[in-house]
Amino acid sequence: MYSTGFMNCSPDIKKYFSPEESQRLATELGRCLANYYTECQAKSGRTVPPLTPNAYIQMADEAMSLGGQDSAKPSALRFAELATMALTYGHHLHDPRYMGHQVPPVVPASALFDVLGRAANQGAAVFEMAPFGTAVEKAVVNALGELIGWAPGTFAGIGTHGGTLANVTALLAARNIRYGNSWTDGVAAKGGLKPAIMTSSDSHYCIARACGILGIGTAQLIKVPIDKEHRMDLAQARELLRTSRDQGLDVFAIVGSACTTPTGSFDDLAGIARIAQEHKIWFHVDGAHGASFLFSEKHRHLVAGIEHADSITWDAHKMLFVPALCTYLFYKNARHSWEAFAQDAPYLFDPNDPTGLAEFDGGLRTFECTKGTLSLGLWGIWSLYGKEFIASLIDRAMASTKKMFELVQNAPDFEVAHVPQCNILCFRHVPANSNLDSQGLSNLQQKIRTQIVNDGNWYITGTRLDGSYWLRVTVINPLTTEEHLAGLLDAIRQTKN
Ligand SMILES: Cc1ncc(COP(=O)(O)O)c(C=O)c1O
Repeated sequence: MYSTGFMNCSPDIKKYFSPEESQRLATELGRCLANYYTECQAKSGRTVPPLTPNAYIQMADEAMSLGGQDSAKPSALRFAELATMALTYGHHLHDPRYMGHQVPPVVPASALFDVLGRAANQGAAVFEMAPFGTAVEKAVVNALGELIGWAPGTFAGIGTHGGTLANVTALLAARNIRYGNSWTDGVAAKGGLKPAIMTSSDSHYCIARACGILGIGTAQLIKVPIDKEHRMDLAQARELLRTSRDQGLDVFAIVGSACTTPTGSFDDLAGIARIAQEHKIWFHVDGAHGASFLFSEKHRHLVAGIEHADSITWDAHKMLFVPALCTYLFYKNARHSWEAFAQDAPYLFDPNDPTGLAEFDGGLRTFECTKGTLSLGLWGIWSLYGKEFIASLIDRAMASTKKMFELVQNAPDFEVAHVPQCNILCFRHVPANSNLDSQGLSNLQQKIRTQIVNDGNWYITGTRLDGSYWLRVTVINPLTTEEHLAGLLDAIRQTKN
């Protein structure tokens, strides 16, 4: 016989799970977020806080050591202090002076929708564990697949935690399909030829990482040089493919970038598709950044040919303005989505499940066993504000980048590295009468970026192109105006180097 003392949850525990506690904290959360967005938009503070990791570790550590000690203080008050700390010392992507990486200021509502999945802890790898969250993922996948141009029912898509993971998964499927027993026996040379993957020299580093992970070996990644517009040079791709067998390589996949990370350049996807078809190799599109341009009538031409891909990586947490991580991996042929993994876990997935729900279990097709309901944010803003709203954010980012390009091009003391194909632009400051050589200019840009980030008002990045260092912006904040763009150039001019 259990004592009722054990059977009944103590009031001490119950209060933390009480609806009233959630209500109080959620009200505080609303207040903290409103303050945060107000400060970001007033652009009165820093965009990026001082980069002092040890000070933050100490603050975080002290907060934990004080946990639960001050019982006189209402938890809502302490919650607000902690939430404010997290927001204040974070990176303020919602400040219009943020023009850094390909990480957007999210539509606030999308973050709030995301919270629902966390608050109710829905596990989206198994339909039973997140019935609605899993269904939302299916609905979003269907809608995105149709934007790609694929017929309903022919393709498959799966949500996963990030573009890196999606790229690895796609190439794993391609490997398993080409080398039928590699999942069980490991990867071996076939007919004396080593498995190899082809991509451009500007593709994201995770493609090389995939080669390491999948047993292909990074030495078997063929990096095709880029042309003047920073796209994969297709003539060279053809030539490298022609000679690959003589080099002892069996190229089984080619990866196109839509777009590349350094300059935002789009490979000729239709051209790569033709090469893939001729050589009977898997065509994967890394559309982590650029697949989202499919939303925009004005800009979807950038990814023309994407519909020919065997698989596509699409990060919603970049240009669809929803919180990370929210990525989709698409397969043109629905059957291929089952090829990446081969697991037997009857306690979790039962293909013979009499309920007939197995098809809705994503877990057999993703790395993750426990997976978040990562589609709620996108589904939420799509359902609340509509698809055109999302498209308008993309168009706005493109228009702002065009303006930035004009400003830089018209400024005698600045130089652009390329014509922007999307919302990424590389440029450099060349002060009048500076007489710096290429190395000197590189060093100057690095110093400028360091100073800009340390000053904290603006946030930009940098990259190396052809060995030289250039400043790099991703113009991604819809609240960024011409005044901010011009302000950044002035701030750069005013750095002391
Ligand atoms: C072209 C490209 N592919 C893949 C990735 C990696 O995606 P994630 O950060 O979602 O893993 C990035 C990130 O910037 C990218 O630009």
